[in-house]
Amino acid sequence: MSVVLITGAAAGLGEGIARAFAAQGAKLVLGDINAKPLEALAAELGADCVTMVGDVSDPRYAKALVELAVDRFGGLDIAVNNAGIVHDPAFISDIPEADARRVIEVDLLGVLWALQAQIPAMKNGSIINIASVAGLSGAPTLGVYAAAKHGVVGLTRTAALENARRGIRVNAVCPSFARTAMAGEARHSKAHEAEMTRGIPMRRLASVAEVVRAVMFLADPANSFMTGQTLGVDGGMGAM
Ligand SMILES: NC(=O)c1ccc[n+]([C@@H]2O[C@H](COP(=O)([O-])OP(=O)(O)OC[C@H]3O[C@@H](n4cnc5c(N)ncnc54)[C@H](O)[C@@H]3O)[C@@H](O)[C@H]2O)c1
Repeated sequence: MSVVLITGAAAGLGEGIARAFAAQGAKLVLGDINAKPLEALAAELGADCVTMVGDVSDPRYAKALVELAVDRFGGLDIAVNNAGIVHDPAFISDIPEADARRVIEVDLLGVLWALQAQIPAMKNGSIINIASVAGLSGAPTLGVYAAAKHGVVGLTRTAALENARRGIRVNAVCPSFARTAMAGEARHSKAHEAEMTRGIPMRRLASVAEVVRAVMFLADPANSFMTGQTLGVDGGMGAM
């Protein structure tokens, strides 16, 4: 059975991805900065699931997660680099320095440290980075987030090229707004949702399940010739 490492697994998309792999019988290494919901999820998912609390912006944590996979389950087959944050909406000229640095540290460097730790530990395998539609085009008021996610796309394509002959596939999923805490799940009103989905041809948010589906497709070992891709789950935005 596959050994799967997922960051940001305690909530939102990461939790959905963890549940989907658990349903397939995978052995799970789950990470998150938020201990309580992470432990609760692991307790629910059962024995083939280990956790480690930490911050993906720390390269030592990226290594420790991989070591945990190797020590407990004998290797690493699939990694989903999902943990991410967004800064408060602001034009580029107004984004505070601390917000900018933190988003780059978590969303961009977090994926770099993850790749550095994961690639040497894999023989064959699949890495899926959760980017965003903001990694493929500009995102007014989310400038640093967009820069970080463009960076994730650059890392994804480069890692795919560097590892194509080693049997390690590296792809990115690029969702538009999905129904999680990051997209303001708690404060959703019809008006807020209409505003967020104005630029999306389907005029709605993605469900967690719809994004999870794309991750499972990319992770599937049968999907063996697909690497370096950015898979939009975006209600048609990428077609515009
Ligand atoms: N929800 C959306 O609309 C949307 C759209 C496009 C892309 N994404 C991307 O999807 C990924 C998941 O987002 P989500 O919507 O599930 O968010 P979320 O806020 O619901 O969940 C993110 C999880 O990551 C954890 N986390 C945050 N910072 C961390 C850190 N430094 N180290 C370890 N764990 C950390 C959080 O504790 C949380 O459990 C992110 O990379 C995000 O940028 C989300």
